[in-house]
Amino acid sequence: MAGLFISFEGIDGSGKSTQARLLAQALQVAGHSVTLTREPGGSAGAEEIRRLVLEGATDRWSAETEILLFTAARRDHLEKTIRPALARGDVVITDRFADSTRIFQGITRGDLASTVDALHALMIGVEPDLTLLFDLDPAEGLARATARAGVEMRFEDMGLAFQSRARAGFLALAQDRPRFRVLDGARAPEKVAEEVLDIVLAAIGGH
Ligand code: ADP
Ligand code: TYD
Repeated sequence: MAGLFISFEGIDGSGKSTQARLLAQALQVAGHSVTLTREPGGSAGAEEIRRLVLEGATDRWSAETEILLFTAARRDHLEKTIRPALARGDVVITDRFADSTRIFQGITRGDLASTVDALHALMIGVEPDLTLLFDLDPAEGLARATARAGVEMRFEDMGLAFQSRARAGFLALAQDRPRFRVLDGARAPEKVAEEVLDIVLAAIGGH
């Protein structure tokens, strides 16, 4: 694939969406073609699945059912949005990708990691070229996410212990995989954005 595929990961409220937006703007100003997208969602079908998984009671779906729903959404996102954008040569920035399933469905509620990996291999099969992990204290993340509260609160409602397991899980994933860069998400947004742009311009240069 010709373009560069970048994912942003982290716990809820870690600043992914803010930074994804700032990066997309900075790259466009610098003359790059950018596709800014998100999960769950990023295509018409996947946005419909988004409502099913993010709204309603925490016990609405089991972790196993969520693996199927998030993977179905991701497959549609890949077919309809990500692959065409990479074929055009775009820089694709996705706010969450498969690492979110590895963490939120794979480890936070029991050990389903091998199930997540098996379904990923069967139905998705690609990883980003670069993954930026925004690390943040989960209490701070939850406070930010709750201040922004809307109807999409199903995962925030799973609580602080859940987000703490997710934070540790993301850091462990990052240790094993060279495509990850870990950034301190507690700094001011402009500071974080500078580091993001440096990392991404270096990756574009080396691509
Ligand atoms: P995420 O997409 O990771 O959930 P957001 O970018 O939506 O995070 O940020 C969550 C909330 O925190 C938003 O209200 C946003 O304005 C605010 N926020 C984002 N980055 C920072 C930061 N570096 N410092 C303080 N607040 C932030
Ligand atoms: P998102 O819209 O990124 O929320 P936030 O901006 O609060 O981080 O994602 C919504 C929720 O979906 C988030 O709590 C994590 C969850 N999620 C999963 O559990 N598995 C997945 O595969 C994905 C992509 C998201």
